[in-house]
Amino acid sequence: PRHLISAADLTRDDAVLILDTAEEMARVADRPIKKLPTLRGRTVVNLFFEDSTRTRISFEAAAKRLSADVINFSAKGSSVSKGESLKDTALTLEAMGADAVVIRHGASGAPYRLATSGWIDSAVVNAGDGTHEHPTQALLDAFTMRRRLVGPDAGIGRDLEGRRITIVGDILHSRVARSNVHLLHTLGAHVTLVAPPTLVPVGVEQWPCDVSYRLDDVLPKSDAVMMLRVQRERMNAAYFPTEREYSRRYGLDGERMARMPEHAIVMHPGPMVRGMEITAEVADSDRCTAVEQVANGVSTRMAVLYLLLGGSETALPSASARTE
Ligand code: CP
Repeated sequence: PRHLISAADLTRDDAVLILDTAEEMARVADRPIKKLPTLRGRTVVNLFFEDSTRTRISFEAAAKRLSADVINFSAKGSSVSKGESLKDTALTLEAMGADAVVIRHGASGAPYRLATSGWIDSAVVNAGDGTHEHPTQALLDAFTMRRRLVGPDAGIGRDLEGRRITIVGDILHSRVARSNVHLLHTLGAHVTLVAPPTLVPVGVEQWPCDVSYRLDDVLPKSDAVMMLRVQRERMNAAYFPTEREYSRRYGLDGERMARMPEHAIVMHPGPMVRGMEITAEVADSDRCTAVEQVANGVSTRMAVLYLLLGGSETALPSASARTE
């Protein structure tokens, strides 16, 4: 495919190819010179209409490690505040010669609009759109689970097959949960969503997963437990649960973590709100992969940019290792 808009668009073969390529890219981080020449002369634009720490920085690091030129655009401080439309912003980027546009936008569907509008020729990568999807987050999460639960040499057909993944929190507003449900289902894992009834989306019964309201029942049967932030900014204040009530029922503390199987990991896409969905004790424990997920995000995004922009196979780290 030319674009990456939704994890639901990925076949199992697509997903496994990206994850295997990300393993190759991870080797670059272990080398003294953390760079490949693959995308020299290509331009990647980071087009961020919503705040981001991890996604924006890791796409920038990924593009730079592939030797691409990077232009960072943030809506704050741009002419968007003067009323400029997505179309005119896109045409401006096209004029700059963008080969790939990585877009984060508050409106669900904005990346799809950009990819299908005919305004630009660039490859479009969804870096999170409203409450819809965040496909590269799901890919880096699957990469992390595969490394921790299966091992780096997992081949096609063994990826996360039968693994039990629990996603806990504000499912209603979570593009991370949506993308993870699609991708994990495609990879053969079994997903259970756990949330207060008010934070479960309408129509969830059509999703390929189970839903539970009782975290304590699900924890002992989980290989990975992914904690989500409650997204106050997308919520009417009247519906916002109190911190004490929420963390008592749905927060992960040391006592609850002890109910998980010994091999099970705790994941968080970030940003974390310590004391709300996760205690500092859990966030800082060896079982929590939040920082590892960020590092894996660079390798995964390198793989996505490399595959979308048609990097040559001879430029992969394994190819240079073979000729060394
Ligand atoms: N996980 C994630 O998307 O984090 P940022 O919002 O900081 O990019």
